[in-house]
Amino acid sequence: MLKGKKIILGICGSIAAYKAAALTRLLVKAGAEVQVVMTPDAVEFIAPLTLSTLSNKPVLTAYFDKKTGTWNHHVQLGLWADLLLIAPASANTMAKLANGLCDNLLCAIYLSAKCPVYFAPAMDLDMWAHPSTQNNVSKLQDYGNILIQPGTGELASGLVGEGRLAEPEDIITFLERNHSDKSRLQDSPLRGKKALVTAGPTFEAIDPVRFIGNHSSGKMGYAIAEALRQQGATVTLISGPTSLPAPKGIRKIDVISAKDMLEACLNEFESTDIAVMSAAVADYTPKQVADKKIKKSDDYFSIALTKTTDILATLGGIKQAHQLLVGFALETDNELANATGKLEKKNLDFIVLNSMQDKGAGFAGDQNKITIIDRNHQQFTYPLKAKKEVATDICDFIVKALGTKR
Ligand code: CTP
Repeated sequence: MLKGKKIILGICGSIAAYKAAALTRLLVKAGAEVQVVMTPDAVEFIAPLTLSTLSNKPVLTAYFDKKTGTWNHHVQLGLWADLLLIAPASANTMAKLANGLCDNLLCAIYLSAKCPVYFAPAMDLDMWAHPSTQNNVSKLQDYGNILIQPGTGELASGLVGEGRLAEPEDIITFLERNHSDKSRLQDSPLRGKKALVTAGPTFEAIDPVRFIGNHSSGKMGYAIAEALRQQGATVTLISGPTSLPAPKGIRKIDVISAKDMLEACLNEFESTDIAVMSAAVADYTPKQVADKKIKKSDDYFSIALTKTTDILATLGGIKQAHQLLVGFALETDNELANATGKLEKKNLDFIVLNSMQDKGAGFAGDQNKITIIDRNHQQFTYPLKAKKEVATDICDFIVKALGTKR
């Protein structure tokens, strides 16, 4: 399945860089078009000439070629690739990638890439075991990058432990298993489906420096977008202001206010199969936005507010039979009755009731406790879980609900 795939092989400064020659050879043998990109330190470990000969392409090591002035366009390279493989991935490069630094061509390509990214670390056992490194590895995985686990054995330092670059043959097998279209087809029930997810809060301007907002972190919506993508859907995420990084492989539209979010949703909805509205949209917005900063004067001050358009209800009103519409309900009392009322009023396929009863669950935390109520008013209650796991549960429910629509 690597046949015809455009692969960028990123090589970092590590003694294991010598294995990149065998890796390049195996990728080319498997029918891939390989573009080697090396960090400045990597060229100290293995000659670019070796790799350009094996890959049949000039090796790129810098943003531009000092001799010819040719610019190695990182954005184009990032978009060109079907797959980015960083092997060996050094502790230093992983730290940079995990934190968005891009002081060399490989890091900039990584930030521009829309394709799946695999990274195969190589380093001494203590460097690998260090909490900083492990933290960076987790961060990279959280961003959707795929770890190719290092092996255990004798290391360049003479010590024995975990940190050896996975063998080139094993890396190829790993890629083939993970990246194969066949396995994607089997594992991707939402393949070919278009999904729309809203997330985060909305900010309603009062004047040029102030707004009315809420504590929504966006984590739940982002996790749902990610889970839908993993199940094969093409996902558009419409996000209010959050501090979360853009998830890989997902088209993200940034909005600020409820009005912006409504417009963006209306633009996207017609071509959507699945819409999950998890944003905490403001119900009211200032009637007028002051064009200058409001000065402090009287002891009491009030702002006239006007109702925003209910985005979910609007989409429920124009929904076609094949479209699946999912809403959220955040309730503090009469939870089930209120949520069921919203399901009916907004013409939803199902509603996810967020419980505010458990510590750590809800808006800003990392966990959630949900009950799903379907069209027949059947209730499915899940235990308190991490938001990522909750997203998987919701996604599984979507797959099931779509099945009943066919
Ligand atoms: N929602 C929306 N547009 C709004 C308000 C809410 O699309 N202007 C959506 C939310 O994204 C969520 C659902 O409606 O999926 C329910 O939101 P919630 O705040 O629980 O309910 P409201 O309908 O706003 O009612 P209330 O605040 O009175 O409980």
